[in-house]
Amino acid sequence: MPAIPNFRYVMQQVRAVVEDEFRQVNDLIIEQLHSKVDMVENIGHYIVDAGGKRLRPMLSLLSASALGDVTQNHIKLAAVIEFIHTATLLHDDVVDISSLRRGRPTANAEFGNAPSVLVGDFLYSRAFQILVDIGDMPVMKLLSNTTNVVAEGEVLQLTRAGQADTSEATYFDVITSKTAVLFAAACEGAARISGDITSAEKLSEYGLNLGIAFQVVDDALDYEGDPEETGKNVGDDLSEGKPTLPLIYAMRMGSEAQRKIIEQAISNKSADQLAEIVAIVKDTGAMEACHKVAADYAEKATAAIADLADSPAKVAMQRLATLSLQRKS
Ligand code: IPE
Ligand code: IPE
Ligand code: MG
Ligand code: MG
Repeated sequence: MPAIPNFRYVMQQVRAVVEDEFRQVNDLIIEQLHSKVDMVENIGHYIVDAGGKRLRPMLSLLSASALGDVTQNHIKLAAVIEFIHTATLLHDDVVDISSLRRGRPTANAEFGNAPSVLVGDFLYSRAFQILVDIGDMPVMKLLSNTTNVVAEGEVLQLTRAGQADTSEATYFDVITSKTAVLFAAACEGAARISGDITSAEKLSEYGLNLGIAFQVVDDALDYEGDPEETGKNVGDDLSEGKPTLPLIYAMRMGSEAQRKIIEQAISNKSADQLAEIVAIVKDTGAMEACHKVAADYAEKATAAIADLADSPAKVAMQRLATLSLQRKS
């Protein structure tokens, strides 16, 4: 049986479709990290140079390419999206008290909470400076609404921390807001810049469903991932008492005793029983159920762009949907 292709390898193939433009986005990101204050540049480079999959800017470039030419404004949009994403990561790691990101100590672990929050603010505002430069009011509206919803999603998640009775519906509300809307905006914004409103809707639907699948897999990886590959610690979500899908399903599918163990870990925000809970999540079939749900959303993503004209970019986007299910990093 052929081995599952390595995520980074397939990402490289996907990237090859927009190779030149991707390089331009990376150059623009580096250029726009510029600040007269050393600490901004140091922390900005610290997180940006650590890599990251650059999945969201890739979505903007592929969406543009699927509809026609990739313009300078698409390149700028892709950089805006990655800046907003990077700002959320800086803030998220402070809130989640995480110590590992992209295979390195998090910026908060390395430089402290205050610098991380403030440089996150710098990146948000720099993103909006670039947006103003693009000068497209509907795209500005899209991104300001999106950023607002992402912030709201992180706050909603915070209010649910330690709450084992969180419903599946609330979980999906959280991940749609904190993660999926930015995926959707990366795609929709590109279509709007291309002036293709009809495709904007389809691409938004693709991004939203892909984003949901991506976060469900991320939440699964928090229990079954390998830090060597994800670059993040296992069990962070449990330490934060996050009622994510693997736990919601395990509480539903497990015995009374298993449910109690998980309930307590969530309310105590404790990863002390991590090994036992990982076993419960696997044994009850909860992990498998999570992967099934992610696959359903990835399928919806693929279906949403079925009517777009055939192009290498469209094929790459469909491959990304499959890949997001198999990813280990
Ligand atoms: C991490 O996103 C945050 C989530 C929404 C799960 P990525 O997994 O895309 O992070 P990087 O940019 O590749 O590091
Ligand atoms: C995604 O959630 C966070 C944002 C969208 C900012 P997580 O908290 O699961 O992301 P990781 O696991 O820290 O990357
Ligand atoms: Mg986090
Ligand atoms: Mg996570």
